[in-house]
Amino acid sequence: MEKPARKFVVGNWKMHGNLAALPVLGAIDAAARETPAVDVGVAVPATLITAAWQTANAIHVGAQDIHPADKGAHTGCLSAPMVKDAGAAFTIVGHSECRAGRQESDDEVRGKAEAARRHGLSVILCVGEPLEVREAGQAEAVVRAQLENCLPADADGAWLSVAYEPIWAIGTGRSATQDDIAAMHAVLRETCRAALGPAGDGVRLLYGGSVTPANAAEILATPNVDGVLVGGASLTAETFLPIIAHA
Ligand code: G3P
Repeated sequence: MEKPARKFVVGNWKMHGNLAALPVLGAIDAAARETPAVDVGVAVPATLITAAWQTANAIHVGAQDIHPADKGAHTGCLSAPMVKDAGAAFTIVGHSECRAGRQESDDEVRGKAEAARRHGLSVILCVGEPLEVREAGQAEAVVRAQLENCLPADADGAWLSVAYEPIWAIGTGRSATQDDIAAMHAVLRETCRAALGPAGDGVRLLYGGSVTPANAAEILATPNVDGVLVGGASLTAETFLPIIAHA
C-alpha cells in the first residue's frame, strides 16, 4: 500500500464540552469543508456524539474510548456498536490517560481496536512512553513493544491510525522535538511494516502532545508524520483552525 497522502488532524476534547460547545464544532466543520484535502476529526465526550454527528458533516466524529466487549455487565462502559449507533465514525483506543486510569493492558487495547474494526469504526491507537523511560534511553524499545502488542494482525490504513503521544508532552506545553518525533515515527513505520507487510505503509502516523498553532507546521512537516492528535488546542476554533490550516 502507498504512503498516506492525506493528513489527519484530530481533536481530542477529553472531559470538556457540553451542548454549549456545539458552535465550536460548527466552526471546525466549516473549516474542514473549506480544506477538503485534509481529513479532520474530533473525539468528543460520549454525551455529545449524536449531537456532534447531527451538527457536523465535513468532519469525522469520534469516541474517546470503548470497551472490548460488544455488551455485558460493564457498568459505565460503552461498546463499539453503541458509539457507532450514536454516530461515531472512529474511536481512540489506548490513550495513556485510559491506560493509566484503568490499568489497561496492551491485550485489552488490541481487543478494543479489534472490536472497533468488527463494527465498522476507524481506530486511532495511541502509544507513548513516560518521562523516566525516555530519560533511561528506552523510549524507542518501549514504544515499539507497545505497538507490536497492540496492533491487530489484519490492520491496514483504511481503518487504522497510530498516534505517538509521549506522556511527558501531554498537556505540559513541552512538545517533543522534531528530531525525536522523526526518530520515533521511523520506528512506528518500521514496526507497522514488519507486522503488516506493505499494508503498514498505509497506516497514518499521528503525533500528539502539546501541539499548538505555533508548532503544528513544523510537526506536520516531519517525515512519517501524517497528522496530529490535539488536546487542549482543539477546544477552541481560534487555536484548532490554524492547526487544520497548517496541514
Ligand atoms: O490526545 C491528545 C493529547 O493527549 C494531547 O493533549 O493537550 O497536550 O494537546 P495536549
